[in-house]
Amino acid sequence: MTARASLAVAPERARASARELRKAEPCTLVIFGAGDLLHRKLMPSLFHLMADGLLPDEFAVITVARERQEDASFRAQVQNSLRTFGPDGGGPDQEARDRFAARLRYVPGELDDPATYAALRQRMAEVDATLPPGSGHLFYLAIPPSLYAETISRLGESAIAPRVPDPQARPWVRVIIEKPFGRSLESARALNACVRRAFAEHQVYRIDHYLGKETVQNLLVFRFANSIFEPVWNRQHVHHVQITAAESVGVEHRGKYYEEAGVVRDMFQNHLLQLLSLMAMEPPVTFSADAVRDEKVKALRAIRPITPAVMHDYSVRGQYGPGFIDGKPVPGYRQEPDVAPDSATPTYCAIRFMIDNWRWQDVPFYLRSGKRMPRRATEIAIQFRKPPHVMFPLPEGQIIEPNTLGIRVQPQEGIGLRFEVKVPGVEVKMASVDMDFGYAAAFGDQDHEAYETLLLDCMLGEATLFTRSDEVEAAWGVVDPIIDFWAGKRPDHFPNYPAGSWGPTVADEFIAREGARWREP
Ligand code: BG6
Repeated sequence: MTARASLAVAPERARASARELRKAEPCTLVIFGAGDLLHRKLMPSLFHLMADGLLPDEFAVITVARERQEDASFRAQVQNSLRTFGPDGGGPDQEARDRFAARLRYVPGELDDPATYAALRQRMAEVDATLPPGSGHLFYLAIPPSLYAETISRLGESAIAPRVPDPQARPWVRVIIEKPFGRSLESARALNACVRRAFAEHQVYRIDHYLGKETVQNLLVFRFANSIFEPVWNRQHVHHVQITAAESVGVEHRGKYYEEAGVVRDMFQNHLLQLLSLMAMEPPVTFSADAVRDEKVKALRAIRPITPAVMHDYSVRGQYGPGFIDGKPVPGYRQEPDVAPDSATPTYCAIRFMIDNWRWQDVPFYLRSGKRMPRRATEIAIQFRKPPHVMFPLPEGQIIEPNTLGIRVQPQEGIGLRFEVKVPGVEVKMASVDMDFGYAAAFGDQDHEAYETLLLDCMLGEATLFTRSDEVEAAWGVVDPIIDFWAGKRPDHFPNYPAGSWGPTVADEFIAREGARWREP
């Protein structure tokens, strides 16, 4: 069964009017750092926004990075990146790429050197002279997290990015901070304190790119623009919730970072807890950034702390060994570049969270994430309770499968509802079927990146999809005890799942103890 999209207006017209409403104001974007993020995500996203007519003509980008080079060679580098990573290989349109490149400027320098900021200020003044008065300034920290605090302080001190207490004041000044935001509750608090000394909270946009994904945003619409789900969205009807973020890739060239991070910092503190909070939160009163984030923070704060005494009942961890992905042999984690041969870093974790409030008391939320699993799949599955009484005579051993609502975050974005039907025939025989809504079938292929939404939102001053300081701290408060507990226990059983499998067998036993089993997304 397939659901058809029925829009009040045709999709093309809906998109065109959204375009008018969402065009960015004239501004300068200053990006610190010219690494992978800039070349693979930011520049292709900006290019796509320009091609879609969502950037104003008065828009400039200044990149500040260490490499000594001129505007011209930086522009050539970016053109290459657009050809490699851009939408449709940057598209056939060389003229559009030239137009885009002409908006780029480059300032070489070290981020701990005051001279860099003086050079930047001068470049910004030159650019400002070409833009309408009152044009905004957006600063993007696409740099290693160890440089965040110093760069933020210097931005404040050099008066390039002043504190602006009034959200309505012009020119606006905003700063985007990439993840990871801290590596523990304590360091996140210290970074928040540093940010607060330099900026007002409304100026700060902490990125979690999951929030820019269409399906993640759709969770809000799905839950709060339909009235049929809310009555069953609670402990009376939901047996448990599973949130899975499976990746088939390993740590790639990021061994050094990953050794320090591990899966809980890398995926749970941010992406998975964001999905959990959107899933579990109460309906916000308005669609304003603070109303939505207030409810998300409340959900995070209601998560029951996991004490060391019960940690084994609430979490299991794993690390991949050598195995096969798509039939090809791949190395184990300990054989990856920049990884210690006896590394204790987990690449898989499954955690059961309980939410202590009226809506969710006693409903387990099972979250799991792992690298080198058979395929890339992120989904939220809500498993409903079984019927309290079965009146049908079932063949020996057959049970009624519970209804499940599956929200596919990626790939093949969509929503499916699984329910039981009678198999045609003279016997009363049941089978599970799916009623399925797919984004691509309903709206055509999604052709934009999470970063496009997020960059545009920053330019428009829309903070709903960004994590507030209290939200980041609440999430660290949830995962810190888990990270600390496991850090103190050297695993003698690693690696405990082969690459290409759905994780360690202990994870299956862990969920089976509670009468549930993992869905295969
Ligand atoms: C990043 C993590 O935040 O998210 C990576 O650091 C992970 O390790 C990535 O691979 C997953 O993002 P996505 O969008 O591919 O699901």
